[in-house]
Amino acid sequence: MVRSVGSSAGVGQNGGVGGNSGAGGSGRDGKYTKFLLEEKDLPRAWYNIQADMSRLPGPPLHPVTREPMKPEELARIFPVTLLEQEMSRERWIPIPEEVLDIYRLWRPSPLYRAHRLEKALGTPAHIYYKWEGVSPAGSHKPNTAVAQAYYNKQAGIRRLTTETGAGQWGSALALATSFFGMECRVYMVKVSYEQKPYRRLLMQAWGAEVIPSPSPLTEAGRRILAENPESPGSLGVAISEAVEEAASRADTNYSLGSVLNHVLLHQTVIGLEAKKQMELAGEYPDVVIGCVGGGSNFGGLAFPFLADKFAGRELRAVAVEPSSCPTLTKGRFTYDLADVAGLTPMLQMYTLGHDFMPPAIHAGGLRYHGDSPLISVLVRDGLIEARAVDQLPTFEAAVTFARTEGFLPAPESAHAIRAAIDEALAAKEAGEKRVILFGFSGHGHFDLSAYEAYFAGRLQNYSYPEEMIAASLARLEAMAGK
Ligand SMILES: Cc1ncc(COP(=O)(O)O)c(C=O)c1O
Repeated sequence: MVRSVGSSAGVGQNGGVGGNSGAGGSGRDGKYTKFLLEEKDLPRAWYNIQADMSRLPGPPLHPVTREPMKPEELARIFPVTLLEQEMSRERWIPIPEEVLDIYRLWRPSPLYRAHRLEKALGTPAHIYYKWEGVSPAGSHKPNTAVAQAYYNKQAGIRRLTTETGAGQWGSALALATSFFGMECRVYMVKVSYEQKPYRRLLMQAWGAEVIPSPSPLTEAGRRILAENPESPGSLGVAISEAVEEAASRADTNYSLGSVLNHVLLHQTVIGLEAKKQMELAGEYPDVVIGCVGGGSNFGGLAFPFLADKFAGRELRAVAVEPSSCPTLTKGRFTYDLADVAGLTPMLQMYTLGHDFMPPAIHAGGLRYHGDSPLISVLVRDGLIEARAVDQLPTFEAAVTFARTEGFLPAPESAHAIRAAIDEALAAKEAGEKRVILFGFSGHGHFDLSAYEAYFAGRLQNYSYPEEMIAASLARLEAMAGK
């Protein structure tokens, strides 16, 4: 059905392989640790999986009328170019030169073979990881933040608003807007604003204004504060504040760091590079693994490989989520709101109900009630497997990784590491060589309080919050019946 995507052969937009490490097949003897591409090997176009999917998610619906959203309604908060990308069926979307210029600061990002981890596990599996922590913000998030800031600037927008939990996404957008001389206001969940000052300071260093949410600046924030002046805030409330502000000002748009099709599209630079790098290593993955909050790093890595699966190649793709917020493994595939206040469109996706409040686990970026509609459809159709892992084994995997490979993972990324280790141990059990590729989405240097809690024995596993999820889904059903 499709041609090979992003390989050195046959894809004009994305050039050939000119790597400087492991080139000429020398990766095959397994000596190399890093597989590096040169700047000239940067992908020139993002891969749009919508061109190759036989079944697509339904359109976003208006939260009140339940009719498909009209482009002009969405254009109040998003630039037209991003809305076009959201709906596009073109297989390749060119990456603007201005965006490539900024990508060059840290891209192409390295692919590593985890020799030391393999040895520690005593596994015949070959484990590879694509390392996105080399960006200035320390995660994959700037891959879309830069693109979104660019298109907004092109559209004459001067300011962007967004929400952030622990601060990974907010810091990526603060970085991106600083490159384009734009203003940025980040509504940061109040409890994180107070407990995790360092990412807040990073955002301020890049010139962003950081507001603890709920705030008195918006209707949504004032409503929550009137009910409870001590409210610790939540991501759903912070989204409502950021969207409300963007909708009320002509010079301001809203920017989202995950879930939407255009966000996953921008992240495909990860998988396109990884395919070239796996070629340098002389291998092709049997399984591609990534952690999933809203789905952007996993989609970015897996989609270019899934194109090969659509064309008949054997490949497993595994999306990993926390058992405390098991959207893909225990959620319902239906239309739901993306925020708490109901200001955002309804999306067709796996959801636990938009008012589901997951326990306060330390992987804040994975505590979202919904998921990317594209990933949701691919899970429903059996093209992606979903797996849930508990908090304690996840931190155990993170520490094993830090003690073998050296890098300290973000708690979110550690979910992918847990699943990769489990795959490698299963391969050992079965006595088979398995090639495992996982997305290493970010470093944990601003998450040391989570590691402190883990080392002090203060972290716990949360059992699957069955009753809370059932109650939330029941409210969703009642809402659908209205
Ligand atoms: C390092 C890291 N990895 C993963 C995620 C999850 O987001 P997504 O599923 O969009 O990749 C986050 C979210 O904040 C993150 O900070």
